[in-house]
Amino acid sequence: GLEVINTIAALKMLLQPSKLAKQKIALVPTMGALHKGHVSLIKIAQQNADIVVCSIFVNPTQFTDPKDLEKYPRPLEHDIEMLQEAGCDYVFMPSVKEMYPVPEQWHIDLGSAEFVLEGEFRKGHYQGVTQIVKKLFDAVDPDLAFFGQKDFQQVLMIRNMVAYFGLGLQIISCPIIREEDGLAMSSRNIHLSAADRKNALVLSRALQYVTDHFATDSIDDLLDQAKQMINATEGVTLDYFTIADTETLLPECEKDSKQLVALVAAKVGETRLIDNMILN
Ligand code: PAJ
Repeated sequence: GLEVINTIAALKMLLQPSKLAKQKIALVPTMGALHKGHVSLIKIAQQNADIVVCSIFVNPTQFTDPKDLEKYPRPLEHDIEMLQEAGCDYVFMPSVKEMYPVPEQWHIDLGSAEFVLEGEFRKGHYQGVTQIVKKLFDAVDPDLAFFGQKDFQQVLMIRNMVAYFGLGLQIISCPIIREEDGLAMSSRNIHLSAADRKNALVLSRALQYVTDHFATDSIDDLLDQAKQMINATEGVTLDYFTIADTETLLPECEKDSKQLVALVAAKVGETRLIDNMILN
């Protein structure tokens, strides 16, 4: 069954036998409020490792809006039930004191892609994300770690952090899990009113439009269409819609041999949502 662990020391002790037995350990970092997207990461981790550790920690250093941190959902009992149901081995739920015993400065070079898209709208966000993920890697010492493509830029930043420290673990990006109508699952979706929930569909619809017409239309036309769809939707305020190189996240106007991704961020009512689709 699932074991709940709250301290780094207890975690290290519990994992020691598995390490000595050379079992493969997987880590799935989360902030809780688990949904099917998170569960899909656990399932993929189980297929690729012997032991799966899920962490639940609402990391204060990655929030740029204190109100967002305060209202972040924390349905702990439901989360534990979901992990039990999924057959997860360990859930690591440390306190803020456990992860940040003393105030600390953290700044590493994440490359220029840190400052675009989410990095532009949420200053310092990826320093906070990579800081906590590094601490979780230190605590668990996993062979593999699983992240969702939903947070496309986050995966890139974590890969850059791993390269920066020369960490010997594998980062695996997993497909975006969507509601039946296309909305990407997110812990923040519970904040959507019924009207917001309908309006939010335009994000995945616009991405799907770009995907469907990518072979035939120019990038300029695709962007015009997608932005028009979103701007025409009541209650939705676009932060960005871009077609970018998957490595640099810089906008691309030409369809050459590079891999491209369409990325969107918008406020739907009071809730900020992101989504993306890889195009080729
Ligand atoms: P959180 O938003 O809880 O997401 C945890 C993991 O689940 C991330 O890797 C995210 O990309 C993935 N995920 C979220 N929605 C998904 C979906 N619809 N389909 C597939 N995967 C999905 O991302 C974070 O937490 C934090 O930044 C964290 C990495 C834990 C560091 O604090």
